[in-house]
This record gives sequence, structure tokens and C-alpha cells, in this order.
Amino acid sequence: MSLLDTRPLSGVLGASVEGVDLASDLDDDLVAAIRAAFVDHHVLVFRDQDLSPEQQMRFGRSFGDLDTHPFVAGNDEFPEIIDVITEPDDRFTFGGGWHTDVTFLAEPDLGSILYAVDVPSGAGDTLFANQHAAYDALSDTMKGMLHGLVGLHSAGPQYGEGGLSTGNTAMRTRAADLADAVVRHPVVRTHPESGEKALYVNGAFTIGIDGLHGEESRTLLRFLLRHAVKERFTCRVRWEPGTLVMWDNRSVQHYALYDYAGQRRHMRRVTVKGDRPV
Ligand code: OGA
Ligand code: MN
Repeated sequence: MSLLDTRPLSGVLGASVEGVDLASDLDDDLVAAIRAAFVDHHVLVFRDQDLSPEQQMRFGRSFGDLDTHPFVAGNDEFPEIIDVITEPDDRFTFGGGWHTDVTFLAEPDLGSILYAVDVPSGAGDTLFANQHAAYDALSDTMKGMLHGLVGLHSAGPQYGEGGLSTGNTAMRTRAADLADAVVRHPVVRTHPESGEKALYVNGAFTIGIDGLHGEESRTLLRFLLRHAVKERFTCRVRWEPGTLVMWDNRSVQHYALYDYAGQRRHMRRVTVKGDRPV
């Protein structure tokens, strides 16, 4: 029997974990149980936590080395923490479209751990979509066509000159030429821990499919990106101050819903380094 008391968030992914205080010293068995639940459910929600930045980093390190972001400045005191902030007069929010974190890296982060400091009441939810379920729902013929295809990923659309993610004042993003580098990842990846296949393209960073003509690539990508986030593959998390959510970037896409214009939202994020998708 698992050490963890989990409750599903939807029929297709996500679970809340009850009765764990992440500020305390977690023993190896508990960390192993959390890791197993993470791989099983892809998104874990811990309510009513009271975490300092150091405690959040320590929790993150129980899953691997922490990463920093090449284009978003970290916290002055703790470079491995990004303050994900939307100010009341921002017209844009970080993560405000379906995406998987940092797939423009050759070794994208395996997971992200977000802690709510300040959230607008009843708004600013985050949506998640299960990319294993999206893959499984494809026909065998489409699966066969996708195997062996390589997606082209780049930070350019978000962080290149005039990029979409450079317009939020609070986030201290830097546009950079480097953002236009292209990285290759399989369109279907296999989760290194569960062995399950997942769709691995996302609308923020996947700019094409290798070897296809422009129109072929755009058409196939448009189908895959819409399919990947169909409602039936999703769950939705409502935040309160003190909610911590960790998600598996090898299994899900996510979407920060911006339905609170004029209000402030502040989350603290750490990311755990991952390996090269295969
Ligand atoms: C992120 C992100 C979602 C949110 O931190 O990577 O997409 O709801 N955040 O803030
Ligand atoms: Mn994100």
C-alpha cells in the first residue's frame, strides 16, 4: 500500500496529495512514494503548505538538480527560483498558452514545481493536458506515421527579438539572438520512468517538423496541437495561497489562464533538470 493518500483531480490526470508537510524533512520512502505518484498522475497538488524559498528548493532537489532559465532572470537572492508574477497592469501572463516548459533546450526540465504566494481569489487557474492520453487516442495509422518524426523546437517565438514572452514587465525576460537556435526532439517521446509514449509537440516552442514541406508541417502540427489539448485530456487546478503543484513536463502540457486582468498574481517556481527526450 502506498504511503500517500491521493485523490484524483479528473478522470485522466492529476491528483491531490493529502497530509504531507513539504516543509518537514521527508524521508527516502516518502520521497520515493511522491515520485511514484508523480509518474502515475503527472500532476500533484499539495494544499496548505507554508514554504520558504529554501524549503521549496530543498523539496525540488529531492527529485534532481535544479535548473535556471536562459531567458528569464531568477530571484536576486536565489537564482534557481523564478518569481512568476503578473502585475495588475500587465496585458500578458507568463505561460498563458498551451506549452511544455523549455522544450527549446536539448535536455528540457523533467518537471516544474510552482508554489502560490499571492493569487486572485477564484481566478488564475492552471490547466493541464495529458499527452499520453492524447497519443493513445490517435489511430494506429496516425501513430505509425508519427513514429520517427522529429519536431523542431526554438525559443525564438517567445524569447527572440520582439518575442511573445518579452512583454511582461514583472518577469525580467531578456530577448536574445541565442533564442533562435533550433533543437530536435522526437514528435512521440517515451517516458524514461513509465515507458509510456507521449505526444511531444507544443504551440509555444515547436516551430516545425523536420523533412516536411512548410504547408505539410504546418497542417500536421496544427492538427496535433489541437488534438493534444482536447478537453477530455485535461484537468484544471484552482490555487490558494500555499498551494504547491508539481507537473511532469515529459507527460503534460499546461496553460496559465489569464482571467484576472487588473489583479496581481505571484507564484514561485523551481525546475528540475531532465534528460534528452527519446
Ligand atoms: C510556468 C507556468 C503556469 C502558471 O511556471 O512554467 O507555465 O499558472 N506557470 O503560472
Ligand atoms: Mn510553463
